[in-house]
Amino acid sequence: MSLTILGIETSCDETAAAVVRDGKLLSSLVAGQEIHSRYGGVVPELASRAHQSAIIPVTDAALKEAGIRVADLDGVAYTRGPGLLGALMVGASFAKGLALATQIPLIPVHHMQAHILAHFIDAPVPAFPFICLTVSGGHTQIVRVNDYFRMEILGQTIDDAAGEAYDKAAKMLGLPYPGGPQIDALASQGDPGTFRFADPSVPGLDFSFSGLKTSILYTIRDAVKKEPDFIAAHLPDLCASVQHTINNILLKRVAKACMETGIREVALAGGVSANSGLRTMMQTAAKEHGWNLYIPPLSYCTDNAAMIAMTGYLAVQRGGVGSLDDSPQARMEFIELQV
Ligand code: KG4
Ligand code: ZN
Repeated sequence: MSLTILGIETSCDETAAAVVRDGKLLSSLVAGQEIHSRYGGVVPELASRAHQSAIIPVTDAALKEAGIRVADLDGVAYTRGPGLLGALMVGASFAKGLALATQIPLIPVHHMQAHILAHFIDAPVPAFPFICLTVSGGHTQIVRVNDYFRMEILGQTIDDAAGEAYDKAAKMLGLPYPGGPQIDALASQGDPGTFRFADPSVPGLDFSFSGLKTSILYTIRDAVKKEPDFIAAHLPDLCASVQHTINNILLKRVAKACMETGIREVALAGGVSANSGLRTMMQTAAKEHGWNLYIPPLSYCTDNAAMIAMTGYLAVQRGGVGSLDDSPQARMEFIELQV
């Protein structure tokens, strides 16, 4: 029996819709929100309003591109969380309205789980169990993925996320939001060994980025006192050094997780996995350690609805369908990450 799922993503500042039929992606559209760049970060109220304007045209365009009518849908998957509450509510309310009107199942999706399951959109797919480094603007986790919906968090950040570290460092360097891609672009022209920043030691497989942030701040503050034009004069080297430090912290934990678990299937997920330095560093490490490395295409690294539709499809295929009630008690057990 054919199974067609619409995916809706509105957790932060991208309004996205996608259609998956029988495990194949038919369409995936993302509308970004330019407005936040002038504020140096996402403004939640503006994000919610932008989602309100975009949600219907984006969904309509995704259905048209897929050649699908609303009546052809067998389920609607949406990002239940984590994310900005007002932004999530736009997607959740829209999905619920659609499910109620068409009487199709509603499938609440865990955003971070969807980032990981983006690996199942296209071949080659990782074999279970695999270690996934999940790095976004709000999360930094080392996850042991035992099966599609059986995931175990082995380590995570105790303060800032890696994406946040990129964005905050960029802000200190006077670069616009989102800072990660800006640092990435400038780093390619710089020398990563120019500046040394703190790599706070955290036990186990956890991460910490707040000390690094302070270290960057103090380096800039002290240098500007002596050389007022310091940032402009050394921007590519500063970006390359920041990027190298953050990525090195990430790589060290992945290597430790692989050593401790004996797993050699390694995947990257989330917005920061778009970073070209991280991708190269992981590829070099994979060769050295004999890992099979899986890095999603750029469009599935940052927020998108293809990953939500695919997670919804996998959930329904495995016998779990949602209901219009998405209270914590009513959520499907296998949708939850085991912490
Ligand atoms: O997964 P994502 O799109 O949204 C969240 O769920 O948070 O991740 C967004 C984060 C931002 O912090 C952004 O700066 C970072 O991913 N990012 C990057 C790059 N592209 C996006 N960080 C470093 N290098 C990049 N090329
Ligand atoms: Zn995300």
